[in-house]
Amino acid sequence: MSKRTKILLAALIAVIIIGLAVGLGVGLTVGGGNDDGDGNSGDDSGPTGPAATSGPRPTGVWQPAVNASWQIILQAPIELSSDATSVTPDVEIYDIDLFTNDQEVFDTLRRLGKKIICYFSAGSYEPGRPDSGNFADSDKGKELDGWPGEHWLNLSSENVRNIMQKRIQLAHDKGCDAIDPDNVDGYNNDNGLDLTPDDSVAFMEYLSSVSLPLNLSMGLKNAGDIIDHVLNITHFSVNEQCVQYAECEQFSAYINDTKPVFHIEYPDDVTSLSTDKRNGYCEDQGDAAYSNNFSTVLKNMNLDGYVDYCSGMSATTPLNTTGLS
Ligand SMILES: *[C@@H]1O[C@H](CO)[C@@H](O)[C@H](O)[C@H]1NC(C)=O
Ligand SMILES: *[C@@H]1O[C@H](CO)[C@@H](O)[C@H](O)[C@H]1NC(C)=O
Ligand SMILES: *[C@@H]1O[C@H](CO)[C@@H](O)[C@H](O)[C@H]1NC(C)=O
Ligand SMILES: *[C@@H]1O[C@H](CO)[C@@H](O)[C@H](O)[C@H]1NC(C)=O
Ligand SMILES: *[C@@H]1O[C@H](CO)[C@@H](O)[C@H](O)[C@H]1NC(C)=O
Ligand SMILES: *[C@@H]1O[C@H](CO)[C@@H](O)[C@H](O)[C@H]1NC(C)=O
Ligand SMILES: *[C@@H]1O[C@H](CO)[C@@H](O)[C@H](O)[C@H]1NC(C)=O
Repeated sequence: MSKRTKILLAALIAVIIIGLAVGLGVGLTVGGGNDDGDGNSGDDSGPTGPAATSGPRPTGVWQPAVNASWQIILQAPIELSSDATSVTPDVEIYDIDLFTNDQEVFDTLRRLGKKIICYFSAGSYEPGRPDSGNFADSDKGKELDGWPGEHWLNLSSENVRNIMQKRIQLAHDKGCDAIDPDNVDGYNNDNGLDLTPDDSVAFMEYLSSVSLPLNLSMGLKNAGDIIDHVLNITHFSVNEQCVQYAECEQFSAYINDTKPVFHIEYPDDVTSLSTDKRNGYCEDQGDAAYSNNFSTVLKNMNLDGYVDYCSGMSATTPLNTTGLS
């Protein structure tokens, strides 16, 4: 018996008992009283289907604001002791590696009122992750250009999806507010698996069907070609180098939908930027046209602790390199 049927039956029995108790003057019609308890109106019989493409979003999932301030660090875990009273820089959101940061870091960021976006690679195999051994050789395509040992993944593989489901569960368990699943644009690369944009859309829908019920919002990393198809299941964009490639207009779709674009550029000389050079990345003109209201960070390519902002502020988040070779 389905849960819904049980609830309806219980409601009917309750109505009968109450009806008998107060006497036969009360009609047994349930009228508008057959509330199935889910608070929704409308026809909700039949399969509900994946949350990604049908039905309303659960209320309460975190929607970051346009122009929210952030920092991203993937090179190493950040150094943040459990009794820290602040974190540098004092921005609203931290995008950090799901695996390498200890629970203490997540707990402390939360205590300090920060929102946490958890990064993991969803569309590539990386050696050296705790669950790397779970990928099958048949899941793997060609190596990523410039990343020896890292391979594109078959986004339709059930095994790959099961691994990503566990990663998203881990993100929930560690206290993340959102996920930043990387490498979902294999179709744009020589991937060896004939990946198509449709494969990426279906994969994003799958990730959403797992993350939304866990109250995690989700970003789209790069993958400008599929924005139209996944805008309504993603809560933000994480973009690399749209100014360098003069393609910020594509990503402005998020701003127009009142969702932030977390935008990263990698200037050569980021630690000694001139005002002119910075403005080239920050002003809404030239190659940076359509980047108005983007949440821009200027970073080293290795995504270490250093960050420079359009305001001219720069900062270095201390990293915890204990135990790293
Ligand atoms: C999102 O948009 C697609 C069309 O691009 C549509 O099929 C789908 O139902 C929409 N999903 C939600 C949750 O609104
Ligand atoms: C965006 O945020 C920055 C601080 O991070 C602030 O200085 C700026 O005024 C904001 N821009 C808009 C248009 O709200
Ligand atoms: C640094 O990382 C090590 C190893 O994970 C951990 O034991 C230690 O508590 C961390 N220290 C700080 C200050 O985050
Ligand atoms: C990817 O996985 C799907 C589902 O298992 C399978 O049908 C397809 O053949 C695989 N693609 C490649 C290139 O192995
Ligand atoms: C969902 O997460 C947001 C913040 O990430 C939180 O404010 C809200 O209370 C959570 N809702 C539930 C039902 O846990
Ligand atoms: C977003 O809105 C701006 C201003 O109206 C417009 O120029 C831009 O083309 C829009 N972006 C997209 C992707 O439609
Ligand atoms: C973007 O910034 C401008 C000011 O530069 C502001 O007037 C506008 O409301 C902002 N748009 C959004 C969607 O936040």
